[in-house]
Order: sequence, then C-alpha cells, then structure tokens
Amino acid sequence: MKKVFITRVIPEKGLELLKEAGIEVNMWTQKRPLTPQELIDYCSQNDALLSVSTKIDAAFLNASKHLKVIALHSAGYDNVDVEEASRLKIPVGNTPGVLSAATADTAFLLMLACSRKAFYMHKQIQKGAWDFFEPTANLGIELYGKTLGIFGLGRIGMEMAKRCKGAYNMQIIYHNRAHNEQAEKELGAVKVPFEALLKKSDVLSVHAALSLSTREIFNLEAFSRMKTEAIFINTARGGMHNERDLKTALDQGMIWGAGLDVTNPEPMAADDPLLDRPNVCILPHIGSATRETRDAMSVLAAQNIIAGLKGERLPHAVNPEIYDL
Ligand code: DGY
Repeated sequence: MKKVFITRVIPEKGLELLKEAGIEVNMWTQKRPLTPQELIDYCSQNDALLSVSTKIDAAFLNASKHLKVIALHSAGYDNVDVEEASRLKIPVGNTPGVLSAATADTAFLLMLACSRKAFYMHKQIQKGAWDFFEPTANLGIELYGKTLGIFGLGRIGMEMAKRCKGAYNMQIIYHNRAHNEQAEKELGAVKVPFEALLKKSDVLSVHAALSLSTREIFNLEAFSRMKTEAIFINTARGGMHNERDLKTALDQGMIWGAGLDVTNPEPMAADDPLLDRPNVCILPHIGSATRETRDAMSVLAAQNIIAGLKGERLPHAVNPEIYDL
C-alpha cells in the first residue's frame, strides 16, 4: 500500500479521494508546524508528500529523494525549491484556478473595507467611541469610476478586475510581462509600464507570484510614486511589499490606505501598529478560506498525489519540464 504524509489537516473531500484510491494517509494533526527534521523523518516512511504551508528546500529534497510526488495545497509555490525538485526528478503539483474567485473576493473586500475604514470603525464601537454624529467625521472615499491597477493580471487578478468593473465601472490598467488579451477584450484593460501603474492607480492590487524579481518590489520608492489618495491591496504574498516602508508611506501620507491579507512577516504580531491605523484593514491570510474552495483545493492536491503515485503525469504540475528530461 502506498503512503502519503500530509503536513496539516486538510478537508475530508481530499482525504476521501486518497483513501478510495487505496492510499494510506498519515496526517500531522498537531497545531504547530513540523520542524525540518520531523518533516524529513515522517517523509522517510512515506512515498508521497502533501504539503500545506511547509518550506520545501534543497536540504529536505536531498534527504527525501525517494518521494514519488510532492503535492502542494496551494496555488503559490514560492516556498518550494522547484529547481532542485526538478533536478531530482520529483514532480511538484499545485492547485491553480479553483481559488481565484475566493481570493479575488478577499481583495475586493479589503478594497471596500479600507475605502470606508470599516475594520477601524468596528473597533471604535467596541471602545465605546460611537457617540456624537458629525457630518464631517469618519469619511471614506468612493470607488466609482476610479482606476484599478493590477500588478500581475492572471486568473486571480482577472476575477478582481471583473468585480471592480462590474461594481464600480473602474478603469483597469495592469502590469504584466505578457499581454492579457482576454482582459483587454472583455474589460478594456490596458497594459502599462510599472511606473505608470504606480502613478495612475487609485487602487493598486497585487496578484503576482513572489519571485526574486518581485520580492519587496513595493518599497518606499514605489510607494512614493503612488497617488496620495491611493489604496494598496496585497492578497498575493507578504514578501511582495516591504512592511516597514509601507508603514512609513502611510505615516508620511504617500498613500491613503492599505488592505493586506498577507503580511511580511507572517503571522503579524498582535501589537503591530498597522492594526491600529484607521485606513488599514488586515486579514490573516484567508484569501482562499471558503469551504467550497478549500474542498476543491484538497481534491486537486489529492489528484496530484494519486497520479504521482501511479507514475503518471500530474494534472497540475509546476515543473512539467521533468517529463521531457
Ligand atoms: C495559495 O494557494 O497560494 C494561497 O495563498 C494559500 O497559501
């Protein structure tokens, strides 16, 4: 019987699929991350790894060369040394597509909440500060007809763009390496250089993958080129922005507000001053956290494990080049 080790508790849907395929499931159920050595030790007794939020580096891969497949329970694979996995001919799979709508909903939620200072207002009531109605107090900003700038217009960015176009008839500009023809045709989106994205966006929403070239691309210099009325939204990876610089940019009024579902580092400290700012809304990396989406992710991850253990091509491989080696 083939065995899979799973690094966190995943939804039943995925577990059922694995069991129906005759695979023995060994799941880490403790509410703390595995140490690197524990991960190696557990994997040494299994044929496959289903990994949730776990760092897969070269040291781990070289100690676990026997693994037939590594399936991630995420679309992002920035925490995996994919190059090394490919060198060792270990297929790595992810869960693209199924989380686009839920993640875009989170970006949209943060944009709207931030524009009306919603999280801060909630805290004000809890503090007993809802007293005297003033027409000039608690003012947010409206989104109708504003410009949405998307950094990385792929599947999630497209869902965010559709929501913003539909709800507020926003103009869509984006910065990508390649043209997104569907977005240009369906939403009138316009591809612009990075500099123009910074200068023209009223809302700048990050949807790109974290890589060496995008790490902390949103730094003080970038924020200083944005509109003073702009809202910065990041639901991609905390590593895309420099958080100290974001605080400075907000303190100095370089931008108006920020909505983050990902922070740098994660988790964010409970006393982080960003949490007290009126124009900032922060969530604990829940972009894909709906029942439907997490079920679908667990199914895709299980399908990758099943295919990998049969020696078949993964339905969603992030390193398909290994099949051509
Ligand atoms: C993803 O799938 O990349 C989500 O951010 C969950 O980690």
